[in-house]
Amino acid sequence: MARIGILTGGGDCPGLNPVIRAVVRRANIAGITVIGIKNGWKGMIENETMPLGMDAVSGILPKGGTILGTSRTNPYKKEGDVEKLKDNFKNMGLEALVVVGGEDTLGVASKLMKDGVPNIVGVPKTIDNDLSATDYSFGFDTAVNIAMECIDRLHTTAESHHRIIVAEVMGRHAGWIAIESGIAGGADIILIPEIPIDINVVCEILKKRKERGKLFSIVVVAEGAQFKEGGMVLQEQKLDAFGHVRLGGIGETLATEIEKRTGFETRVSVFGHIQRGGSPTAFDRVLGTRFGVKAVELILNKKFGRMVALSGIKIIDVPLEDAVKALKTVDMELYEIAKVFFG
Ligand code: F6P
Repeated sequence: MARIGILTGGGDCPGLNPVIRAVVRRANIAGITVIGIKNGWKGMIENETMPLGMDAVSGILPKGGTILGTSRTNPYKKEGDVEKLKDNFKNMGLEALVVVGGEDTLGVASKLMKDGVPNIVGVPKTIDNDLSATDYSFGFDTAVNIAMECIDRLHTTAESHHRIIVAEVMGRHAGWIAIESGIAGGADIILIPEIPIDINVVCEILKKRKERGKLFSIVVVAEGAQFKEGGMVLQEQKLDAFGHVRLGGIGETLATEIEKRTGFETRVSVFGHIQRGGSPTAFDRVLGTRFGVKAVELILNKKFGRMVALSGIKIIDVPLEDAVKALKTVDMELYEIAKVFFG
């Protein structure tokens, strides 16, 4: 093995640079050259690369984002792109490729394995923490800590003004960020995509809280949560290359309903991409580093078609296919714990 590539695809997240650094450092020990593919699958289609020597990865450990850039390009979307990608794989002289991504990016990797690009290993990435087969993905811990800090800040202003504040956090299909930041931040209600919102119950909890003398409340809602009547709240109808809509706005809709039904003054705060930016926590730096080292070791052992994963405190490897089969939603035992503190 002399030359391998690495790409980062999908939404960025803190911890990607620690992975890139670890791949380069571990490969260097094995005498392997690493080529950085720019902007996810787009770089593989358009042949955009950058050399990744020891100097290129020096100092990137604490940096958020990805030095390689990213995109939501899907090579299966446009005719001819998969062929271009395969040609470039050969032209770049790659013997293996490390693919760092979430459900969509790894889904493409899994398809490519079947379509004649066999030497791929996966690294799971998403702030949403919704990938099966790994207990945690890096980026999640940072996002939860940022959201928790924002909730702490909302508490002081909500309390001073005797208001309800609805905090909208990320989480498309799974409410992991909402549940963990909500528990850590002491939210009074947490609403997640897994449990349809009953607005009557929400208002009842808020009224009871006021009756016991609490003149403010914090409601945490995941962007993908839906009312019982159904339908996600969307920012726009346009679909991305993987068929996803742009979410956002549930906080505003919820706040309007709460104010209308209870008469309590209500405000909204949408945390948005702040949750995905900035320096990774120690947990995410360590997890990214462990994943990167293990990914190169899988390549050295010719264990292709595998994804690195965290199981308990151990780094293991699982079939890439397993990672993209089903989404990991919030554990209902954790939700029951959160409910103890509602109201
Ligand atoms: O998948 C991670 C995620 O952060 C989701 O929670 C969110 O819906 C989406 O990415 C936002 O993506 P974009 O960067 O395209 O706005």
